[in-house]
Amino acid sequence: MTEVNVINIKNPFQDQKPGTSGLRKSTLRFQEEHYLEIFIQAILNSIKDLHGSTLVVGGDGRYGNISAIKKIIQICVAHQVGKLIIPKNGLLSTPATSHLIRKEGAIGGIILSASHNPGGIEGDFGVKLNISNGGPAPESITSQIYQCSQSLKSYKISKIKTPDLDEVGVFSFGQTSVEIIDGLKDYSNLMESIFDLDQISDFLKKDFSLIFDAMNAVTGPYAKNIFVEKMGLADNCVMNGIPLEDFGGLHPDPNLTYASKLADLLLVQKSYSFGAACDGDGDRNMILGQGCFVNPSDSLAVITANTNCVPGYKGGIAGVARSMPTSSAVDFVASALNIPCFETPTGWKFFGNLLDSNLISICGEESFGTGSNHVREKDGLWAVLYWLQILAVKNCSVSELIQNHWKQYGRNYYSRHDYEAIPSPIANQIFNNLSSFLPSLIGNKFAGNLVKGADNFSYIDPVDQSTSKNQGLRIILEDNSRVILRLSGTGTKGSTLRLYFEKFAGSEQNLHLNPQVALKSLIDDLDHLLNIRKLTKMEKPTVIT
Ligand code: G1P
Ligand code: ZN
Repeated sequence: MTEVNVINIKNPFQDQKPGTSGLRKSTLRFQEEHYLEIFIQAILNSIKDLHGSTLVVGGDGRYGNISAIKKIIQICVAHQVGKLIIPKNGLLSTPATSHLIRKEGAIGGIILSASHNPGGIEGDFGVKLNISNGGPAPESITSQIYQCSQSLKSYKISKIKTPDLDEVGVFSFGQTSVEIIDGLKDYSNLMESIFDLDQISDFLKKDFSLIFDAMNAVTGPYAKNIFVEKMGLADNCVMNGIPLEDFGGLHPDPNLTYASKLADLLLVQKSYSFGAACDGDGDRNMILGQGCFVNPSDSLAVITANTNCVPGYKGGIAGVARSMPTSSAVDFVASALNIPCFETPTGWKFFGNLLDSNLISICGEESFGTGSNHVREKDGLWAVLYWLQILAVKNCSVSELIQNHWKQYGRNYYSRHDYEAIPSPIANQIFNNLSSFLPSLIGNKFAGNLVKGADNFSYIDPVDQSTSKNQGLRIILEDNSRVILRLSGTGTKGSTLRLYFEKFAGSEQNLHLNPQVALKSLIDDLDHLLNIRKLTKMEKPTVIT
């Protein structure tokens, strides 16, 4: 028998507001005594039939990853979890975790990541539970975990000497077996089963240059395994390829602001034919061509329109889904393919039921997230390989592909403006202000157009009929232009205000405007209405996508 210690504590969670997707806080907070342990105890309490079950545990390699895994091993041993599957060096991307949970029939997985937030002592850390379908725990479970974390007064731990995580191997502690595995193999095999890697590699070797930016985070080893070892490309096609505890000071969010070096290589210097980046935990992606940025909403539409190019989807797809703020570009494709298109609230967890019930096969969000039924998370490298496969089949450039898409379906001009880390009272004031007069906008003019709808988006899940209210304020105009306002649920400093703008241009219209120009009247009118720049004291948004 391994000894089990019951540690009594003063509960550190009582002062906290509930989070919707696990716990994301500053690294320093996580360093406080018992802080992580209590949350892990709350997670384990939420899992029925934990005794003897299998759990996957891994993270994105940020500061605190290894020590957190070691504590989780000790707590799981004390709870007689049957098997822990842990990747070598503790490194497992979020989509790879999702795959491993499904492949191993695990009861769930614990993901250590704050996704695209910076890491290191001054950055953030996070813990998230995924359930047996491989996807993020639904709200019913996360709120249970939260409630439990608030009231716990003790946790159980076995202070065993944990194995080093730098070699594969199997270790036994009482009733628990700890398996340290190769974290790359299963994921690369999955990619090989979906894509024709030989075809992509032949294409890339024929004068179509690739640069992939892993942002010093978890996807570096996966990208090298696939692009260099499997496809035989040169080692330097992966930049920032070694996972670092502080991501080398980078903010590992693949957008034009935070992946600016990559953006410069593609958009200004035009040194490569194709560029892509993934975020801290590997679920987000940004796609760039030579002189061409692909908006994530357009990426979802292009991916949906070209399933016939990708071996894994040649049999056709059941349907698609997008989050509400994502542009309607994919709706036009779905309608042409005669498949259903669902509109869900922001957050990947809302796609889970639709995927599990085979109502959809592909889904995505405007926030650089795209994925399919191969796992239950968005998947950055999957999206990169998908784009490369389409380009290889069509033998064309990124800008040719996107322009031909617009010619066929029209273009949904789209942009998101983020005002990051503003004081919460200001963010709430702006949000509540719009909320209060939203219905009165209907029938009035906005940006030279009649407002035909204005509401706070709410969603009824078509599978389990659960309702999610307050999912974002939206103004919909007669020409279907949209303006949306949300408060971020993932930031850790102050509040982040997100504004989304969309306007459709039919294929006979000018499709080559700068989106900021095409959307100017929507952007200006929202600012007139809400005084955002003045109230936030910011001349312009922190990030414009
Ligand atoms: C953001 C994105 C959302 C995404 C989430 C997790 O959430 O907007 O689409 O699912 O990160 O990656 P937000 O900060 O807007 O609540
Ligand atoms: Zn992420």
